[in-house]
Amino acid sequence: MKPSIYVTRKIPDTALQLLKEHFLVEMWEEEETPVPREVLIEKIQTVDGLYCLLTEQVDQGLLELAPNLKVISNMAVGYNNIDIKAASNKGIMVTNTPGVLTESTADLTFALLMATARRIPEASEFLRQGQWKSWAPMMLTGQDIFGATIGIVGMGRIGEAVAKRARGFNMEILYYNRSRKMEKEAELGISYVELNELLQRSDFVVILTPYTNETKNLISKEELLLMKDTAILINVARGGIVNEAELYEALVQKKIWAAGLDVFEQEPLPMDHPLLTLPNVVTLPHIGSASIKTRIKMAELAAQNLIHALTKDTPQNLVNKDLL
Ligand code: NAP
Ligand code: GLV
Repeated sequence: MKPSIYVTRKIPDTALQLLKEHFLVEMWEEEETPVPREVLIEKIQTVDGLYCLLTEQVDQGLLELAPNLKVISNMAVGYNNIDIKAASNKGIMVTNTPGVLTESTADLTFALLMATARRIPEASEFLRQGQWKSWAPMMLTGQDIFGATIGIVGMGRIGEAVAKRARGFNMEILYYNRSRKMEKEAELGISYVELNELLQRSDFVVILTPYTNETKNLISKEELLLMKDTAILINVARGGIVNEAELYEALVQKKIWAAGLDVFEQEPLPMDHPLLTLPNVVTLPHIGSASIKTRIKMAELAAQNLIHALTKDTPQNLVNKDLL
């Protein structure tokens, strides 16, 4: 008999067909709303594999209910929604979708940087609200990007792809990373500095680390106060890496100039969130990798990861390599 799997959201057809060739598939059929926790609790009790999104909290409690579960395939590169240690302890493989979303996410990072620097959503709204009376010398003026200094925190796949784009804008590129990437420095034209120096020197600070115990609140009041009052913070990584309450204070007190955020501590961002009251914040609903082609590639890669894990010896994109 084929192994059984549960898919926690309606996924692109090509990915679903791949899965159906190998497994008995059950799927939460909705596209916009996550699977309710009680449904996930029921389904996890029997399946061999779970195909999930970053919206599902796969914690120890859930894993305790899953006697047959052998693999969790996350349709995302970030996997902070999954308790990796608990999965490893139970011998459950966890896989993710690195690489296929790198360029799309770097595109969005740069788009958000430019939109924030040049106040594009605010300017568009200004026109639509009938506030455009005349061309005026200092109307809706922003910050220059070409020739500015960008500081990339987390020089991984997406960090590198952002650095390549920054070179095209003749930017000075500083980076801070857990491990120094000497071999990449000449190739990408990037200079390693400690985090504090990066914060002090950069016109744009771009966060691109995973969310872990070490990166939680990596950017808090102390770090924000080191930034220039003309600087812009861009976060396309995960919400909890930046302390939102302290970011709000820094923006209100004009300690930094603006922020562009694709990710939040709580998603979806509550409509009464204080950040939404500020004109100098550009907010996006976690769309970093959201190009049509990339989302299909992610869905297919997550399917292939699951197939490899349940039918072959060495799964690709295994996160918990301690299991090998
Ligand atoms: P990656 O290749 O693993 O890069 C992450 C980088 O962060 C690595 O270079 C890593 O250093 C560094 N790092 C880890 N912990 C650190 C720390 N404590 N201090 C400093 N640097 C640290 O991952 P990626 O593919 O670029 O993706 C990065 C993250 O972006 C994902 O984890 C995800 O959360 C987020 N993301 C968001 C979206 C979106 O839609 N908004 C889309 C894709 C990804 P080492 O070289 O030492 O490992
Ligand atoms: C999206 O946020 C991802 O981690 O792939």
